[in-house]
Amino acid sequence: MTETAPPPAPVADDATPPPPGPPDGRLALVSTRGLTKVYGRLTALHHLDLDVPQGAVYGIIGPNGAGKSTTFAILSTLLKPTAGTATVCGFDPTRQPKEVRRRLGYMPDVMGVYERLRVDEYLQFHAAAYGVPRNQWTELIEGLLELVDLDVKRDAMVDSLSRGMKQRLSLARAMVHDPDLLILDEPASGLDPRARIEFRLLLAELQRLGKTILISSHILAELQQMCTDIAVIEAGRLLAAGTPNEILSRLGSARRATVRFLDGTEAEYPVADEAEQAVLLKRLMTEEEGREIVEFKVVTHDLEDLFLQITEGIVQ
Ligand SMILES: Nc1ncnc2c1ncn2[C@@H]1O[C@H](COP(=O)(O)OP(=O)(O)O)[C@@H](O)[C@H]1O
Ligand SMILES: [Mg+2]
Repeated sequence: MTETAPPPAPVADDATPPPPGPPDGRLALVSTRGLTKVYGRLTALHHLDLDVPQGAVYGIIGPNGAGKSTTFAILSTLLKPTAGTATVCGFDPTRQPKEVRRRLGYMPDVMGVYERLRVDEYLQFHAAAYGVPRNQWTELIEGLLELVDLDVKRDAMVDSLSRGMKQRLSLARAMVHDPDLLILDEPASGLDPRARIEFRLLLAELQRLGKTILISSHILAELQQMCTDIAVIEAGRLLAAGTPNEILSRLGSARRATVRFLDGTEAEYPVADEAEQAVLLKRLMTEEEGREIVEFKVVTHDLEDLFLQITEGIVQ
């Protein structure tokens, strides 16, 4: 990739305070401030403030209609916000779309149809569209197909690939111009469990290569496993942002034991860890003598559980 000019200094605006950036001082590769999108009478995004640190695998969790695709389309220069600002790799997607596109690989939630293209032709087509010199195509495409584990499918027709393979090809397509940032809109939806695991491993590899990854999903357990940072949005509003652990710690005790007695009563106890669980169990067996315990169950919050609580307004 050719040398490019350093990002311009942010435009001073007395009315807005300087962006706070990620809390731990990591450099934000993507920031939004007050990002708002109105479609007719519907406000799809309400003053969204996000900071995506460089090198992060940043997950945006939200149910259908939360505004994930709208956010990604704005960051990817495909849609103009109604209000607010965004910075992507140092540039404004509205005013400097070319600079942003050069540094960004966007994988939309639906892949186009390319009935008559082979896998290698498909990548050549996109390499050409991004202005990659023709004499670099062979090496580039070899490398990408190897990365996404599709080298054996080089001569296959795109339409003959499984959904998981198509998603990996779509990811390779998003990388033909070696972007710093990847924006992946629900890449794991519709994949079978095995294909999901393969996709997750591929993202880990991309992170090792130094890419910053912004990914959306409504499958919370998946993001929990692969993301360094998570933002939860619902109906266009940011409900929580931080590392998965930070979000969990906002809920207080992440683990609780529920005990059911033979007389039909139940009790719930917060427990910090397995050692506390053992102490509690021993105490119940001795102190609660005479009340037969029929069930001792430990529930841990995962993000799915957390998400329900967040959307119910328990955490603000
Ligand atoms: N082009 C559009 N015109 C009108 N409404 C839209 C348009 N695109 C999205 N919306 C609406 O905006 C909201 C957010 O949509 P979207 O960003 O696609 O959410 P998500 O990707 O989280 O499912 C939804 O209510 C959706 O129906
Ligand atoms: Mg969407």
